[in-house]
Amino acid sequence: MPGSGAITGVIDGVLARGMDRICGEIDRAFDLLLPVPEDARARLVEAMRYATIGSGKRLRPLLLTATADLYGVDRDSAVRAGAAIEAIHVYSLIHDDLPCMDDDDLRRGKPTVHKAFDEATAVLAGDSLHALAFEILGDPAISGDPFIRAELVSTLARASGHEGMAGGQMMDIVADSETFDLHTITRLQQLKTGALLGAAVEMGAILGKVPHEGRTHLRNYARDIGLAFQIADDLLDHEGDEELAGKALRKDDAQGKQTFVSLLGPERARDQARALVEQAVGHLANHGDEADLLRAIARYIVERDH
Ligand code: IPE
Ligand code: IPE
Ligand code: MG
Ligand code: MG
Ligand code: MG
Repeated sequence: MPGSGAITGVIDGVLARGMDRICGEIDRAFDLLLPVPEDARARLVEAMRYATIGSGKRLRPLLLTATADLYGVDRDSAVRAGAAIEAIHVYSLIHDDLPCMDDDDLRRGKPTVHKAFDEATAVLAGDSLHALAFEILGDPAISGDPFIRAELVSTLARASGHEGMAGGQMMDIVADSETFDLHTITRLQQLKTGALLGAAVEMGAILGKVPHEGRTHLRNYARDIGLAFQIADDLLDHEGDEELAGKALRKDDAQGKQTFVSLLGPERARDQARALVEQAVGHLANHGDEADLLRAIARYIVERDH
């Protein structure tokens, strides 16, 4: 299609600028949030800093700020909320990597927290990041409106616990020993990964004071990219490059994990992920250029190599 290369180029530029900006902002936010105390807690805070600063794609904060931007939300508020959701995500990764869960040695291109520190410190760093997320959302610096703060807290709490990420992690563990059908695997992935990605978009809309009935298209967008994201993660595990991914791959097959790739095969899984992305972009049809970053994120999610 003539001109599509140019359009792709513009979208890539939007994504590169958006990612660069949010990575710097989230690094700075954690640096300020986590001064190392001069007492025996230093090791804990060092581990939290090790896990949160300097790496990660920052996809959830990017989604949150990109959504907030649609509605003219103050950047500092959106970045604070982005740091809160990233804190939950990083805690989930620290615990996911523990020997009692996936037992991984590498995360974001460096040793996992329990390898660089020790298991007890990793558990406590995860616990403390979990708490920090809600401390950030409860701080009036994020919004002077207590109703907005309360809605941010309940949205992130629901997406993190048994009705969201932790519930999905439980299903993921059970799936190692029980056979799930495609419907159940979809539900598992929606909870394990989709819930936090959905919360990122929802929290941007909350800060933007978008009424519930005005959020439907955003929720549909988030649901589709959430599923596409996990299919991409499963495809990466199946055929990605460990060096680029910065984490151990080929683990799902080895552990007999049921994923979209094991159920559909890589070709159909990839087609499904691409179809979901096109569907996600379709939900943004009523937005103009201001939604280009959200469109670019959707495309990046399935084409990424890490
Ligand atoms: C990895 O998430 C864990 C899953 C939810 C599949 P990301 O791919 O967003 O990891 P980082 O934040 O970039 O390290
Ligand atoms: C973990 O999923 C998702 C979380 C909620 C942390 P995976 O176990 O597939 O994530 P990776 O592949 O280790 O990043
Ligand atoms: Mg896991
Ligand atoms: Mg894992
Ligand atoms: Mg994985």
